[in-house]
Amino acid sequence: MIDFKVIGEPVILKNARKICPNDIEKCIEAGRYGALKRALKEMSPEDVIEEVKKSQLRGRGGAGFPTGLKFELAAKEKSDKKYVVVNGEEGEPGTFKDRIIMEDSPHLLIEGTILAGYAIGADEGIICVRCDYIKAIKRLRKAIADAYNMGILGKNIFGTDFSFDITIERGAGAYVCGEETALLEMLEGKRGEPRKKPPFPPQKGLYGKPTVVNNVETLANLPFIISEGADRFLEFGIDGSHGTKLFSLSGDIEWKGLIEIPFGATIKEIIELAGGVKDGKKLKAVILGGVSGTLVRYDEVDISVDYHSLGVIEAGPGCGTIIVLDETRDIVDVTENIMEFFRTESCGKCRPCSLGTVSLCNLIHRIKEGNGTEEDLKKIEKISIGMRKASFCGLGQTAPNILYQSIQKFRDEWLAHVRGGKNDRDGYHKNRRQRIHGRVGTDDS
Ligand SMILES: Cc1cc2nc3c(=O)[nH]c(=O)nc-3n(C[C@H](O)[C@H](O)[C@H](O)COP(=O)(O)O)c2cc1C
Ligand code: SF4
Repeated sequence: MIDFKVIGEPVILKNARKICPNDIEKCIEAGRYGALKRALKEMSPEDVIEEVKKSQLRGRGGAGFPTGLKFELAAKEKSDKKYVVVNGEEGEPGTFKDRIIMEDSPHLLIEGTILAGYAIGADEGIICVRCDYIKAIKRLRKAIADAYNMGILGKNIFGTDFSFDITIERGAGAYVCGEETALLEMLEGKRGEPRKKPPFPPQKGLYGKPTVVNNVETLANLPFIISEGADRFLEFGIDGSHGTKLFSLSGDIEWKGLIEIPFGATIKEIIELAGGVKDGKKLKAVILGGVSGTLVRYDEVDISVDYHSLGVIEAGPGCGTIIVLDETRDIVDVTENIMEFFRTESCGKCRPCSLGTVSLCNLIHRIKEGNGTEEDLKKIEKISIGMRKASFCGLGQTAPNILYQSIQKFRDEWLAHVRGGKNDRDGYHKNRRQRIHGRVGTDDS
C-alpha cells in the first residue's frame, strides 16, 4: 500500500484512511456531500463558477489551466447535452496521487464531479480510470452505487430539479490517452490519438458536445471550495498558487509515498520531509513534474514548487511528481530509460514524435555503446528542439525535455561517455534486456 503524509491542514486527504470509503453513511456523517447540498439548494451554477474562479484553483493534471475559467467556457455553450470527463488515466511514471484519491476518497471525487456538472449544466459524468487501477475501480463502483441508493446521483438530487449520472470507464492503458482529446477519442471507441485544437473540449468535446475534462485531484478540491468558501482556500499556499498540492515521491529517497502540502515549499524542503536522499547519499538531481517535466540539478533545489517560481525557469509543478536521483545515478542511463518510454508510448500519428523518439533512442544507444561522438550530442539537441516545435501534441513536444536539459546541466557526464567510449556492447545489451523485462507492474490488490 502506498503511504502518505499530510503537512499542515489537508484539503484533499482529510478523511483518507480514517473513514471507510465503502461506508457512505459514515462519509456523509463526516461532511461528505455537504458542499453539494449547499450548492444545489443555495447557489446557482453561476455562483459555483464564481466561487471556483475566486479560489484561483488551477488544474492539477499538468497544464495548470484555471478551473473556473474552463467551467465558464463550457457553461456558456448552448447545447442539449454536456459532459464532465474525469481524467484518472494517471499514466505519468512515478505518479500515484489520483490513485490514492480514487481508492481512499471515492466519494470526494464523486462530489467534485457532480459539482462540476452542476456548474456547467451537464447531466452526465464519466470517470475514466487507468485500466490497471483495479482497487480504485472497485471502490468507485461501490461508491457510485451507494450514492445512487441514497439519492445523491440520478434523478432530482436532494429533491432538486438537478439530475446527474456517473459511469466509470477503464482507460486504454496508453500514456497518450491521458491527453484530454485522445481520452475523448478513446471514450468514443476510437483509436486513442489526440485531436487538433481548437476547438477545445469545452466547446466541442465528447461526441462533439461541450465537455470539461478535469484531473481527479482538481475536482477533489471543489467540495472544500464550496463548503468552506474561496477565501478559506486562498489562505492555503502563496500568491498565484493557492491550495495544497499532492506530490508523489519516489526514486532514491528515504521515504516513498504521497505528500499533501500547501504550495510554497521548496523541492529541498519536500525531500527533507521525506527523510532526505536514501542511505545518506548526495543528491544529484530531481525529475520534477513527470518524465516530460523538468530536470532540477542538486544546486537548484531551493526553488519553491509553485506556478510563479517555476514559471521563471519555464517549468511548472506538472502533475506533482518528484523522482529523486542520487549521486550514483548515471544521467545517460536515466535519460535512456525515459526516451525508451516515450518511444514506446508515441502514438505514431505525427512524424516529429514517432521518428524523433526513435532517432533519440538510437543516438543514446550509440553513445552508450561507446560509438558516440560530440556531433551526436548536437544532433540530440537539434532533434529535441525540432520535436518541441513540430510535434502534434504535448507528448512529442515534451518528450525530449529531460534529455535536452541533461545535456545542458550534466554535459561533462555526456562528454565522458562520448570520449571514454565504454564499448561494453554485450554487458550493455544484457542490462538493457533486464531493465525492459524487469519492469514492475501495478499492485492490483
Ligand atoms: C501525453 C499527455 C498525457 C497526459 N496525461 C494526463 C493524465 O494522465 N491525467 C491528467 O489529468 N492529465 C493528463 N494530461 C493533461 C490533460 O491533457 C489535461 O490537460 C488535463 O486532464 C486537464 O485537467 P486539469 O485542468 O484539471 O488539469 C496529459 C497531457 C498529455 C499531453
Ligand atoms: S506528438 Fe506523438 S503522441 Fe502526439 S500525436 Fe504526434 S505521434 Fe502521437
